Amino acid sequence: MKSTNQHITFKVDKIRKDFPILSRKVNGKPLVYFDNAATSQTPQVVIDAIVNYYSNYNANIHRGVHTLSQEATDAYEQARQKIQKHFNAQHSHEIIFTSGTTHAINLVANGFSSLLKKDDEIIVSALEHHSNIVPWQMLCEQTGAILKVIPMNQEGELIISAYDKLLSENTKLVFVNHISNALGTINPIEEIIKKAHDVNAAVLVDGAQACPHLKPDVQALDVDFYVASAHKMCGPTGIGMLYGKSTWLNKLPPYQGGGEMIEEVTFEKTTYADLPYKFEAGTPNICGGIAFGVAIDYLNSIGFDAIASYENELLNYATQNLLEIEGLKIYGTSPNKTSVISFNIEGIHPYDIGTIVDKLGIAVRTGHHCAQPIMDFYEIPGTVRASFSFYNTKEEIDALVYAVKKAKTMLL
Ligand code: ALA
Repeated sequence: MKSTNQHITFKVDKIRKDFPILSRKVNGKPLVYFDNAATSQTPQVVIDAIVNYYSNYNANIHRGVHTLSQEATDAYEQARQKIQKHFNAQHSHEIIFTSGTTHAINLVANGFSSLLKKDDEIIVSALEHHSNIVPWQMLCEQTGAILKVIPMNQEGELIISAYDKLLSENTKLVFVNHISNALGTINPIEEIIKKAHDVNAAVLVDGAQACPHLKPDVQALDVDFYVASAHKMCGPTGIGMLYGKSTWLNKLPPYQGGGEMIEEVTFEKTTYADLPYKFEAGTPNICGGIAFGVAIDYLNSIGFDAIASYENELLNYATQNLLEIEGLKIYGTSPNKTSVISFNIEGIHPYDIGTIVDKLGIAVRTGHHCAQPIMDFYEIPGTVRASFSFYNTKEEIDALVYAVKKAKTMLL
């Protein structure tokens, strides 16, 4: 991944001290955590925010006149504002708290069920996670809309000339991830968005894998919907966000009915609350929302230029060293990729490599990574995926290379 500042001294030893889990051992060895694309680790400052909430001001929000409720409401709404600022949304009511990326995508898909008609067309990409495929297939089943797919090439990049041919006045929606979870490819979303808008289609970008590595500007992108999960960004699980342009969010019907999302309820008719509450039925993950805001502060305190530059160094170092292992093949070789390496060794099942490296304390993900169409494209059952974060080190990559070599000796 390119960075605008290559000269930052990255103090990884100091940063690692922020993460208590990084000093634990697994199977008698120091933990090497390379499953960051599945979930990131949690810095002490976020853990402290969670403990502080439950120790000092746990209360339901938007409902009570009492002090605890007001403190919790203020902290939750401040977190929404932090997220707004981070993504450069125009309004804080364009940020909807969700349980994560999957929930956010389903919310939008559900909303479009009343706006689409038979033979309208939806475009997704060949690089999507199942969570950005299945909700749209369900939407097509409900509405009679047609799903089309932007194909990929051997490098794991989208073929934009094929996208051009798919676009037409029938295209209503385009869904694409910012970065592929399985391969790490950074998609040209600026171009994808612009071309979709040229035919008046709306665009949802799945930013789950991008937001740990870069800082999207939703206004500059002119994206209609952008979704992300806190747990990939040093925050807790069970909380994420949907950004939507208010024009779109006002058009979509609510996803769930319940408390908080109403203006007035009678047995004859219910009117809905304004944004963002129209989409936030029930008691939300209050503590999670507050901790998400703290995680964003933490990432910004390190700085996304510094993160990108350092992670790129790790990616290059790992790529070079892993490729020295005979029979090892990397899937996803775009020059425009983030710190994810998906690989196999000829003749060995990825699961077996994952099991052996775990015995040496190294956590990687194995399998199809919830992206079966990508595995089908390469005609493989899955890969071993090592995904690096700014708190990883070159020494840890050396440990991975050693462990993979050892696995190869044992298994072949
Ligand atoms: N989407 C997550 C991953 O790629 C879980 O591992």
